[in-house]
Amino acid sequence: MTQAAEATIDLSALRHNLQVVKKHAPQAKIMAVIKANAYGHGMMSVAKALEQADAFAVAHIEEAIQLREKHKQKPIVLLHGFANESELKRASALSLQCVIHDERQLSLLQAFSQKINLWLKLDTGMNRLGFSPNTIMQAYGLLKEDHKVLGLFSHFANADQVDAKSNQQQLKLFHDTSLGPGLWRSMANSAAILTQAHSHYDWVRPGIMLYGASPFSDKSAQSLGLKPVMSLSSQVIAVKDLAKGQAVGYGSRWKAKENTRIAVIGLGYGDGYPRHAADGTPVVINGESFTLAGRVSMDMICVEIGSNASVNVGDSAILWGQGGPAINTVAQFAETIPYELSCRLTSRVVFKEVDNG
Ligand SMILES: Cc1ncc(COP(=O)(O)O)c(C=O)c1O
Repeated sequence: MTQAAEATIDLSALRHNLQVVKKHAPQAKIMAVIKANAYGHGMMSVAKALEQADAFAVAHIEEAIQLREKHKQKPIVLLHGFANESELKRASALSLQCVIHDERQLSLLQAFSQKINLWLKLDTGMNRLGFSPNTIMQAYGLLKEDHKVLGLFSHFANADQVDAKSNQQQLKLFHDTSLGPGLWRSMANSAAILTQAHSHYDWVRPGIMLYGASPFSDKSAQSLGLKPVMSLSSQVIAVKDLAKGQAVGYGSRWKAKENTRIAVIGLGYGDGYPRHAADGTPVVINGESFTLAGRVSMDMICVEIGSNASVNVGDSAILWGQGGPAINTVAQFAETIPYELSCRLTSRVVFKEVDNG
């Protein structure tokens, strides 16, 4: 039987990357963003490895419920807050910190008798979620007697574009809005942790950098001192000779420029490898880098290995991660971002954990 594709999760790399966050933001507390199954890495394993983080942040109440079972004391932040009264009750029972962003949540809280820990989200220019600068003081006034307002929260729209004007505009708006003394502030995601020290405030919120990928398209994770947490691999299932001019795969997109060989690897978009990966996307086999040849199929990809490489059926091919190409590189070849690649591995991939000390 064909061996399934494997995602190896390196827990020591997670801890290393957490230290990189600490080095950049030594004064701030760290809210590790582990939503969407920890960006596809496995939320419970990641949370265990990141026990040293000061809090966990997730998007959905179901994620928080699962986390709370194992992490009884840890502050857990619900980034979208609650959608209705039943979620609010559950958030209260689990002592979650809720980030609230709209009038509906405000009304539910006003009618709720238990004290809830809250962050108020300020819309500083993302124009997605959050109270406007004009309405946030009023919201605070309505909540501060009956609930515990922990602080002010906002999110950058363009932190990955270091010189974007909007970063300074958002930061200024955030800075100029004060709910009062003694309340926390939180604004910085990975890109801002790495490049906007003024945005660190009391709590930073790293996501992608914890997983060892770069938030930037023009700076590698390695140059930022990050170690890849996920390594995706599969096996060579066939090696085939090709004559000059012969085409490979659906649509015959790629044609051999000379007599050559291809290796067929047992993984495809059915495993979450991006179907849009272009010819030339790197794949490493036995320490040597080869390139994708032809369209990604559901269960297979092909790479050109030339006439001389020593590649055999059963050899391991690394699609991204340790010993292979950086996930950022593969993302660029597929015109996407590393966040999407790690999030969208399918249930067919077998997950393994390693801990290198
Ligand atoms: C509100 C909020 N804060 C922080 C993050 C972490 O962002 P990044 O993964 O770019 O560090 C996210 C992720 O989308 C987010 O939604």
